[in-house]
Amino acid sequence: MRSVRGTKDLYDQDLDCFRYICNQAQELAKLYGFKEIQTPIMEYTDVFLKPLGEDSDIVGKEMYTFPDRGGESITLRPEGTAPVMRSLLTSGLIHQLPQKRFTYGPFFRYERPQKGRQRQFHQISVEYVGEKSYQADVELLSFAYDLLKKINVHDFTLHLNTLGDSESRKKFREHLVDYLTQFKNDLSEDSQRRLAKNPLRILDSKNENDQKICSSAPQLKDFLTEESKIFFENICRSLTQLNIPFVENPSLVRGLDYYCHTVFEFKSTALGAQDTLLGGGRYDGLIKLMGGADIPSVGFGCGLERLMLACQAPQESLSEIKIILCPESEDQKMMCLKIAQTIRTSGIACEIIHTGPLPKRIQLAENMQAHFFCFVGSAEQDTQEFMFKVLKPVMHLYDLSLFSQKLSIESFLKYARSQKVDV
Ligand code: HAM
Repeated sequence: MRSVRGTKDLYDQDLDCFRYICNQAQELAKLYGFKEIQTPIMEYTDVFLKPLGEDSDIVGKEMYTFPDRGGESITLRPEGTAPVMRSLLTSGLIHQLPQKRFTYGPFFRYERPQKGRQRQFHQISVEYVGEKSYQADVELLSFAYDLLKKINVHDFTLHLNTLGDSESRKKFREHLVDYLTQFKNDLSEDSQRRLAKNPLRILDSKNENDQKICSSAPQLKDFLTEESKIFFENICRSLTQLNIPFVENPSLVRGLDYYCHTVFEFKSTALGAQDTLLGGGRYDGLIKLMGGADIPSVGFGCGLERLMLACQAPQESLSEIKIILCPESEDQKMMCLKIAQTIRTSGIACEIIHTGPLPKRIQLAENMQAHFFCFVGSAEQDTQEFMFKVLKPVMHLYDLSLFSQKLSIESFLKYARSQKVDV
């Protein structure tokens, strides 16, 4: 029996870290006024075809698409923006603008698995729908920056570029095609195909020779309309005022067709080849393309697996206090069930190791990452006082000397509460 290539089971510390990041993102979303939305993991395939671009890698090579039993073409969502727009359109929420939404969950792309790249991965996706002013872009960038800081990601850099408006891109496209056509036969197969349909994507090619050719290509920033230029300058100026550092990266074009104006990626040196933690940008034309009105929007998505590789989740917020109870014999088993009930009601994790030799039970408790081991024998049964043997210190509980004497369950819980442990 095997698990599907490019998928991972999540448990123990990884799952704690996963939840920790989701919780931090949820808290931050509240502070910024983004409300959660959850859409199904499968959509009709046409939700993705045009919005992502028929020529994009995702649509061309990476989607999990299959006919269902009724013959409809279904796709497991490869990204979150198009489904959220579909949902706003079909639910009518699109008529109550602005819509500030975030979602998180599993996404699917048939890619070559490696560190930080899976076939089922998870994203937190944030969308600001119905706001055309550049301040929306700045707020989103600030959200992304705060999120990375909040979960202790070090060594990241914000790469920023503008794709301008459609007029800017049209002018640039003509010059770019003229330039690239001279090297047509030297370009990779993918780039040759894109030359006619989507030449901007060639700038994003991972092929070394393509990159060499592109290094001398005309630059989009030289073809920006005055309006696009001012829009981008305003964003750069605001980021500087907010002390959010960034670098301008003219070759950043992103892999999806729906972007215009601002595009950005936060990259980390901690990740290896898959170094993009978070990516996004403005997608003003998307909702119209999907059958709605002309509604400007901006958003970003970040890969949870990549955040997990790059972040340092503080131990104390991951570890709840865990107590292991150990009944001496059959006589104390019922008592242990009762004590466990009291402890759990206080919000502290408690497990009972019902049987086995004592040293083995202590070893097992250590393996379970428990903080306290509590032996319940006939003496404890009589006095109702217990030794809380410290197996692993809890960050919040400063005065560990307290546990060198026997305590009643109530005293233990009182102390835990007084130390502002979240119980
Ligand atoms: P994306 O750049 O395709 O953008 O993906 C966003 C993030 O998802 C990436 O930066 C990366 O962290 C993560 N990611 C993508 N593919 C994988 C994979 N195979 N394994 C692990 N992590 C992965 C989007 O998806 C856009 N919908 C973002 C957006 C939202 N733009 C506007 N709103």
